[in-house]
Amino acid sequence: MTTATPEAGESALRQTMVVGNWKMHGALQANADLLRSLRAAPPAGCAVSVCVPFPYLAQARELLAGSQVAWGAQDCSMHEQGAYTGEVSARMLGDFGCRHVLVGHSERRRLHGESDAMVAAKAERALECGLTPIVCLGETLEQREGGQTEAAIGLQLDAVLHLLGAHAARMVLAYEPVWAIGSGRSASAEQAQQVHALLRARVARHGIDAQSLSILYGGSVNPANAGDLFAQPDVDGGLIGGASLQAADFQSIIESAPRH
Ligand code: 13P
Repeated sequence: MTTATPEAGESALRQTMVVGNWKMHGALQANADLLRSLRAAPPAGCAVSVCVPFPYLAQARELLAGSQVAWGAQDCSMHEQGAYTGEVSARMLGDFGCRHVLVGHSERRRLHGESDAMVAAKAERALECGLTPIVCLGETLEQREGGQTEAAIGLQLDAVLHLLGAHAARMVLAYEPVWAIGSGRSASAEQAQQVHALLRARVARHGIDAQSLSILYGGSVNPANAGDLFAQPDVDGGLIGGASLQAADFQSIIESAPRH
């Protein structure tokens, strides 16, 4: 693949990140209040980003430019351009200053039929345009209860690793157990750590410097459980849904991230 800045032995800088995923929420005035309060908050000791719906990218750029808070999108097309009505390309996201784009969120896999191969192609398009793909993966409750967690997330991860090759070092992973998303039932810190360690080991087996990879946890993270989750050695921060829509909660989660 060609990327914006291809380098041999490339790697992302592992860092603690707290990323908000607004999903299909927002309205101009409410967004402005939320973005202004994020901008006004004291500098975080971690990277902070918000992934907003496409129509609000211009607003996020206007209100966050020059601040410590980055912005991104929740999906991109697997195609570069063309007759794909309704799709948004990674290059277009770059035009709006996005630093990140989520790919493979379980809601897209489940509700929009996205396959592992499509998710991998989206991650590739993002890297080509200089964006960091945040590749989401996770098992269903049925898979967990059937002892299939590693097999399920392994297939999702391998598709991305095979397509991206050495460039996979520049992605971010987000482990989001499907049963924990929006359910109020987070994975325990131990469950998250166990899966994150599995993911890191699997990435390393593909010859990628897994110690340099950021792996986020997502699924019912809130101000009360963020500290425990983020304290795990292989958990490099979180991907936050509902709690990212409330400025005070999101700020409190950001403050739970370890300072480096
Ligand atoms: P909740 O934090 O609302 O459970 O959502 C998690 C998520 O899907 C983030 O991408």
